[in-house]
Amino acid sequence: MKKFFLDLGKQPLANKYLKKFRSNQIKYSLRIYFNTNSKLVSISKRIPSHIMFNAKYPYRSSLSSTMRYAFKNLSKEIKSRFNPKILLEIGSNDGALILNFKKKNVIGVEPCKNLARITKDKKYLTYDNYWNFNLAQKIKKKFNSIDLIYSANTITHISDLNNVFKSINFLLSKNGILIIEDPSLLECLKKNTYDQFYNEHIYIFSTISLKTLLDKFDLEIFDIKNLTTHGGSLRYYIKKKSNKNHKINKKVKIQINKEIKYGLDKFQIYKKFASNVIKSKIKLLKILNKLNKDNKKVIGYGATAKAVTILNYCNINNDLISNFVDTTPEKVNSYMPGKNIKILRYNKNLLKKFDYAFLGAWNFKKEIINKEKKLIKKGLKFITHVPNPRIF
Ligand code: TYD
Repeated sequence: MKKFFLDLGKQPLANKYLKKFRSNQIKYSLRIYFNTNSKLVSISKRIPSHIMFNAKYPYRSSLSSTMRYAFKNLSKEIKSRFNPKILLEIGSNDGALILNFKKKNVIGVEPCKNLARITKDKKYLTYDNYWNFNLAQKIKKKFNSIDLIYSANTITHISDLNNVFKSINFLLSKNGILIIEDPSLLECLKKNTYDQFYNEHIYIFSTISLKTLLDKFDLEIFDIKNLTTHGGSLRYYIKKKSNKNHKINKKVKIQINKEIKYGLDKFQIYKKFASNVIKSKIKLLKILNKLNKDNKKVIGYGATAKAVTILNYCNINNDLISNFVDTTPEKVNSYMPGKNIKILRYNKNLLKKFDYAFLGAWNFKKEIINKEKKLIKKGLKFITHVPNPRIF
């Protein structure tokens, strides 16, 4: 049974950055549910994929050095540990991972045509289609089977999970490996990062819920890695149950026990999370209102989809945060979805004019603090809501 626990109000499409602010931008209600049977946490309103992921999708994995470094390291690990003849990536974005492989060894799947174009132009085989059974059949005809399928921050964006795993299972060779990584629900609750919820994040997986889902397809997790990316993610190494080549690492059981101990299998913990979210909103608004009263200038740092959830849930307008800065060309000179807050091109001189920066890209805190060392010495302060709203 699906039980409601958190209402994040009316929200626009998180990656819909308009060139001109429109107060009537379409908004959808963002309500979060826990399924007491499958233990899956999901949002209620499902927006069709073609509306969310199209030829104007602005998110680029390669723009952050943290992500480039993470994908480079992963490519080394995949080559040495699994040495696949062919790796298929579902959601290959601008090629941050696949470009680390030889052309003949990788296939990208990326439905956002502007992104698929980037790897196509580099002569990497890229299907600019949505991941589904039709596509799996098409690829199977050409390649027969695939020995490694990888997907980061994509599977949780697809509403029909049964179709996703059915298609993966169909294409994966007998001894093939599936690696997926996504934000960890445990980290999300521990850090009170309710901004992980937006229209694209249809699900946030716990290991418990993923295991239940994989069971239906005779797939099982045999190893797990804690990652710092996207504010705390889990990388799952998955195989067919019939494949006895890999022993199940004890880390899998340890992670599940951690999640059970925290209460992720029970509804109660989600009610507690919802009440922490309300407290977080009140405290963040208190900080921003006080700075406003003191005539301090506040800018947002990192025009993330996550920040869109915060701005719209807390009803933060341009009196509290006048602008955002971002390095993504596709976002510059647009407006934060749902808000009359313009995104400016990142430059250090611009930042100098501000007293405080609200960390929209809190998941890149280390990279950003390192980059802004000099400005911080000169007095720039940051505001974050993670794990509790505060100035640092
Ligand atoms: P991310 O947190 O991955 O986004 P989302 O919540 O949308 O999934 O994206 C980080 C954003 O922050 C991206 O738009 C680029 C921006 N950014 C900067 O502008 N400067 C920086 O130094 C870093 C690390 C990110």
